[in-house]
Parts: sequence; C-alpha cells; structure tokens
Amino acid sequence: MQEFIDGTPLQRRLVHRYPLTRATCTERDLAEYTEWAVETLEEVARAVGSLHERGVVFGDLHPDNILLTDEGRVALIDYEVATLAEDRARAALAHPAFAAPADRQGVDVDRYALACLRLGLFAPQCTIMLPLHRPKVTHLGEIVKETFPVPHGVIDEAVATIAGGERATAATSMPGVASWPELRDAMATAIVAAATPARDDRLFPGDVGQFQPGGGLNLAHGAAGVLFALHSTGLGPFPEYERWLRERARRPVQGSGLGLYDGLHGIAYVLGLLGHQEDAHDLVEVCLREKWDRLESALISGLSGIGLNLLHFGRTDLALRAADICAERLGTPCQRSAAAPARAPGSCTAPRAPRCCSCTPTSTPATRRCSTWPPPRSGRTCGAAATPKTARSRSTRGGGCCRTSTRGPRGSPSCWSATCGTGTTRRSRRRWPSCGSPGARASSCRPGCSPAAPGSSPPARGTCPNW
Ligand SMILES: Nc1ncnc2c1ncn2[C@@H]1O[C@H](COP(=O)(O)OP(=O)(O)OP(=O)(O)O)[C@@H](O)[C@H]1O
Ligand SMILES: [Mg+2]
Repeated sequence: MQEFIDGTPLQRRLVHRYPLTRATCTERDLAEYTEWAVETLEEVARAVGSLHERGVVFGDLHPDNILLTDEGRVALIDYEVATLAEDRARAALAHPAFAAPADRQGVDVDRYALACLRLGLFAPQCTIMLPLHRPKVTHLGEIVKETFPVPHGVIDEAVATIAGGERATAATSMPGVASWPELRDAMATAIVAAATPARDDRLFPGDVGQFQPGGGLNLAHGAAGVLFALHSTGLGPFPEYERWLRERARRPVQGSGLGLYDGLHGIAYVLGLLGHQEDAHDLVEVCLREKWDRLESALISGLSGIGLNLLHFGRTDLALRAADICAERLGTPCQRSAAAPARAPGSCTAPRAPRCCSCTPTSTPATRRCSTWPPPRSGRTCGAAATPKTARSRSTRGGGCCRTSTRGPRGSPSCWSATCGTGTTRRSRRRWPSCGSPGARASSCRPGCSPAAPGSSPPARGTCPNW
C-alpha cells in the first residue's frame, strides 16, 4: 500500500513548461526552464539514490511515474516492476524511451533511465530512437547543450551513461563535419537498410503519397525517385531494386498517373537512365495509348512534364503536340457569348473549372464557351469536363478509360487507369485492335510492325511485339 500523493506527473509539468513549443520563446524562457529542469533532476536523482541505498531498484523510471507536489516534493509511484538490487535483475516492462539495454542490470537500469530523463527534459521523447544507434546520443547531447544553458557536466554524464561501451566505437558522419562521400555513403547505407523488396506496394519508406495508386513506384514519392537520387549521386547499380521497379512498372495498378512526377512517364525516364531502354520505351507506349493529350497542363502530372519526357525519348512530334495544347490553353482568350457582356480576363465563370486561358474558375454556373479548355475539338463548356457525371456517361457510350476507374472524373489524373486502352478491358480491346490486325492504327505500332491490309487475316495474338 502506498500513501496518496497530491501531486502532478512530471510529464504534465514538462508539457506545460517546455519553452520550445512556444513561438515567443526567449533566452530568458530557456534559462528559467533550464533552472527548473536541473533542480527537478537533482530531486529525482536524490529519490532514486535513496531507493538504491535501501537495496531497491525502481525499474520503471519515466516522467509519468514521478509526481511533483506544489510544495516541491518529488515522489516515485508505480513500483510494479521494482526488484532487489542484489538480484541484479532486469525489468520485463519499461517505457521504450527509458528502457536500459541488455548489458545493464540492477541499479544500472535506474541509472540508465535517469540519464535518459536528463536528456529527455530538454529533448522530449528523443531517447526513444537510441536503441537504433546508441552512439547517436553524443549528437543529441550536443544539440541540448547548444540550445539550453544547461551545465555541460549534467549532459555529458548522461551521454556517457547511455552510450556505455559503445561510445568510442562508432563515430557518426555529421552534416557540416563529415565529407560529402562519407555523408553520401552513410545515407546510402540507411536507404539500403530500409529497402523492402519483398513488399509489393513500395520499395523504400517515404512520403504518404506513395500509398496513392502507383505512388510506390513514381518519381515523386516512390522507388523511381529513390533510384534516380542514388544514380545521380554516383551510387549503384542496384539490380535487385531496378528489377523490382521494372516488374511492377509492367503491370501498373489501376489509377496510376501518367505524369512525369506522379506516374509512368517519370518511371520510364528513370528506367531509361538506368539502362533499361526497352522497358522505358514500352512504358512510354503504354502511356501513349491513353488519352494523355486531355490531361491537365501541370509539370507534375500533366502535359508539360509528359511533353518533356516525349522529347527526351525522341518523340518530338508528340512532344510538340503537348506543347501546343499547353500553349493554346495559356494563350487564347475565351470566346464570349454575344448576349453576355464582355468580361475582363480572369472572370470566366465555370463551376470547378480548371484555370483555362485567362479565365479563373468561379462558383457560378457555366455560361460561356472557352476555346481552350477543354481543347477545342471537344467543344464542351469551359470547365464542364470536370464533372464525374459527364465522364461516366461519356465513357459508357464510348468505352473510354473512365469506365475502368472509380477514382475520378475524366480529365483528372486519377481517371487515367494505366490499364485502360491497353487491351485489358473488353471495350478498350475494341478501341485498340491488336497491332498488326486490320483496323489497327499505324501510330500504335512499333517500327517494323504495321497494321495488316484491309481484308487480310490478322496475325495471331502475341506475335506482334507491340501487343
Ligand atoms: N500513490 C499515488 N498517489 C497519487 N496518485 C497516484 C498514486 N499512484 C498512482 N497515482 C495516479 O495514477 C496514475 C497511474 O498510476 P500508475 O503509474 O501506477 O499506473 P499506470 O502508469 O497506468 O500503469 P503502468 O505504469 O503500470 O502501465 C498516475 O499517473 C497517478 O496520477
Ligand atoms: Mg505508471
């Protein structure tokens, strides 16, 4: 049975007092906080020391098990895992930011946790990462000493206790100190250590964007971006990772983007860079079978990025087409209805319209026709293409790729399923006859392969290199 202590957990006091979470933090705030923290640490050390004098190891020292009273008293609560010092035991349960490594037993378990508390009052929760690389504590200590006016001895002692025997063994390559090759190799080691080729959705940990369809592969968030960075910094090759990307790029998930950063064009670029020219060209062909010319103009996901990539792969005619479409969208003023009064550029009214020519989308209903959005031949009201209803009804009639996508409206990157138009859906087979078969378009054939003459029998499926 333990007496009731009318106090507040140290963790709560820490949260309320910690100065670096306030935008207005001054040198004085830092000094006041440091004074309080050092005094509190001394009190806690005294309490732990008195336990040790009685032959008891507390075993679970952390800020939630330390109560502070208004009178300044410090009390340890929660003796669930306390042991006798002479047993030199190790606690089975502990807070991960304060848990001692296996080489500490008995009172050393408390001493380790106390050292973590000494750092933790200045760099809360940071000691939780130390089991990954314990010598890193030296850097953590330096940061604390640079930030707070804390007596260096307090931190140095804590660092020495935490590092133990590992302190001298591994110097960490630090930015601003180590050379570029050292830093680069250290980062590469970490990247390789974090790779998970057995996973299907992503190869490297990264931005949450990689969990969008195809995001684990693309240049912006996925494996292509990491491989590009490794290659650009003179590292590699990494055949296993490249194989991972090539295999998955061949069967992109539904909803994958086509763009330079968000999709297949960027992956094609990186595959080409890494020497996989055939995979790269195949992927560009897959993209070209989509209605890529109706995508938005953006570099990340649209025509400007796609145009650059087409230029890179020697598809100059198509690159110029992309450039023309972008230029038209940017440069041509809206055609104004004779009945409606002329409006200044930037006042085109269209619900949820993308920015088109000189028009700015507004929330009022569409009343005008815009010559540049969508592209003139579609002839739709400016901005009206961006409604899911239109996209669905059109695709049902025409067998467009939106039929296979449930993610977004026609014209949005998420609409353009990479499997659309490539022969994987019933309707798209009709739209894209097998290369070499009667009715196939010459533009969908590779060099050396052309559509069969009308009336001739089509070649067996699979014999055409373009199918
Ligand atoms: N002797 C005590 N006097 C006053 N409050 C106490 C006392 N013991 C526990 N408490 C209150 O109960 C809360 C939880 O107590 P305790 O630390 O024993 O359990 P726990 O942290 O939930 O469990 P565990 O740490 O075993 O997972 C404390 O934060 C404190 O507010
Ligand atoms: Mg507790």
